[in-house]
Amino acid sequence: MSRKRYYLTTPLYYVNAKPHIGHSYTNIAADALARFKRLTLGKDNVLFLTGTDEHGQKIDKAAQAAGMNPKEFTDKISLTFRDLWTTLNISYDDFIRTTEPRHKEAVKKVWIKLDKKGEIYTAIYSGYYCTPCETFLTDETVRNLAAEGKKILCPECQRPAEKIEESNYFFKLSKYQDWLIERIEKQDQMTILPDTRRNEVLGFLRNNKLQDLCVSRPKNRLAWGIECPLSAEHVTYVWFDALVNYISACGYGDEAAKEKFAKWWPADVHIIGKDILRHHAIYWTIILHALDLPLPKMIFAHGWWVQGGEKMSKSLGNVVDPVEVVKTFGVDPYRYFLLREAPFGQDGTFSEEALTLRFNTDLANDLGNLLHRSLTMCEKYFNGEIPAGISSACPGRLRNEVDHLPDALKASMEKLDFSLALATIWQPISIANKYIEDSAPWTLAKQGKQDELKIVIVALLETLKVVSQAVWPFMPATAEAIWKQLGIETPMDQAPFQNGLWGFFQNGGKVAKGAPLFPRIDTKKP
Ligand code: MSP
Repeated sequence: MSRKRYYLTTPLYYVNAKPHIGHSYTNIAADALARFKRLTLGKDNVLFLTGTDEHGQKIDKAAQAAGMNPKEFTDKISLTFRDLWTTLNISYDDFIRTTEPRHKEAVKKVWIKLDKKGEIYTAIYSGYYCTPCETFLTDETVRNLAAEGKKILCPECQRPAEKIEESNYFFKLSKYQDWLIERIEKQDQMTILPDTRRNEVLGFLRNNKLQDLCVSRPKNRLAWGIECPLSAEHVTYVWFDALVNYISACGYGDEAAKEKFAKWWPADVHIIGKDILRHHAIYWTIILHALDLPLPKMIFAHGWWVQGGEKMSKSLGNVVDPVEVVKTFGVDPYRYFLLREAPFGQDGTFSEEALTLRFNTDLANDLGNLLHRSLTMCEKYFNGEIPAGISSACPGRLRNEVDHLPDALKASMEKLDFSLALATIWQPISIANKYIEDSAPWTLAKQGKQDELKIVIVALLETLKVVSQAVWPFMPATAEAIWKQLGIETPMDQAPFQNGLWGFFQNGGKVAKGAPLFPRIDTKKP
């Protein structure tokens, strides 16, 4: 039985530097999904969680470099993430910081439960560690590099790894390898999407022997972490801390929040970038299983925004600052571009030229023009008064397309196929623009064919009403502006969104045209 509630999460972003386009991508996608779910399930049935990952050596080093203590430093950078989410209209329900007491308490409960169940042991760890990725290199990687006489570089980021030897706590990850392979093969509790990523995890698990996970760090090497309740000399490994956010935010281990936890866990989807798939699909799923908790229903690993063939990242110095892009193009065109340009599981290349092209064609020509022309005609021919009693006489093809839009959209949103969802919404937009050309309302007006003219105008307004609801998850401010111009007062997330919405203007209404939403960007060089 499907539950009528939806819990979705984003990764917690490291606060070693301010956010860039990659971080904004995950949150814009999550926001579109959360809004869509609010439209279809009701706004109280959605929990959208994001936040910041604030412990670990990487953050400690960044704080030192900035000449600040880690607490002040993380307060400052965490705020830049929140500010960006406000700018980008990200409607998260909860923002969790791993330095918050509610999170630290939950992490301690996880330690204690796993220890009681015999899932934790101590051992000397000796090996290579990559600080930027906060990950140990596997024995196999080190063996292969050494055999080839190569430097010990991290296979993920190609930066030098450090040799360390210390006493630590380990979580018995390896004993669950076969269990996990079976889960992923059967997809009986959890799906990993896209399929290529699922195959990648399966391939990894079939071809490599999992090692137990080192889940602590000695305080004398790194003090900036959550205290380990089993030892005064250790703090928690940053990933073992951060992953727990998905349950700590909804009340894990808190007696007073039992009902809340039962309502929301398991998550419906963890949206992540493909760089952190293993941490989620392997470590996190096994930790949950060892805690006797159900697995998330889906892990979706999206692609990267790349430039010059390389992942955009702060360390490579090739990042695009969303704040700058938004200043030039506006928030909604930026959101639209990211979700329309590249299918969600694949990599995308960012360029201002591509964004300008999308802006001028999809937004200015298609959607913007449809709105502007329709309202101009309604004002010109009917003084802005929407003719009543006409909706049912409107044409079959356009009406059929609009009537079935909610379900058509649902199919692609369930698979997080945002690009396809937007293409689906642009169908009725194109059909409506063509309908204007074909029915030539200006000729009907000249010929005094009032009844036919009314049908055309009302059909366009009915289309715009439903299309703007469909567009809302992706471009909330645009959708709300369209509703305002159509004279609709109901808040968008309180209006029903299902098949068969045609007929909203059966009793008439009044439009109020505003300035064009997307004035074309001039691409001619001076
Ligand atoms: N803190 C960890 C995640 C812990 S989750 C419990 C982390 N943080 S991160 O800040 O480095 O990156 C998090 C996410 O940002 C990536 O998984 C991805 O969702 C997004 N992106 C960062 N760079 C990106 C691109 N260039 N392109 C697309 N998204 C990428 O890893």
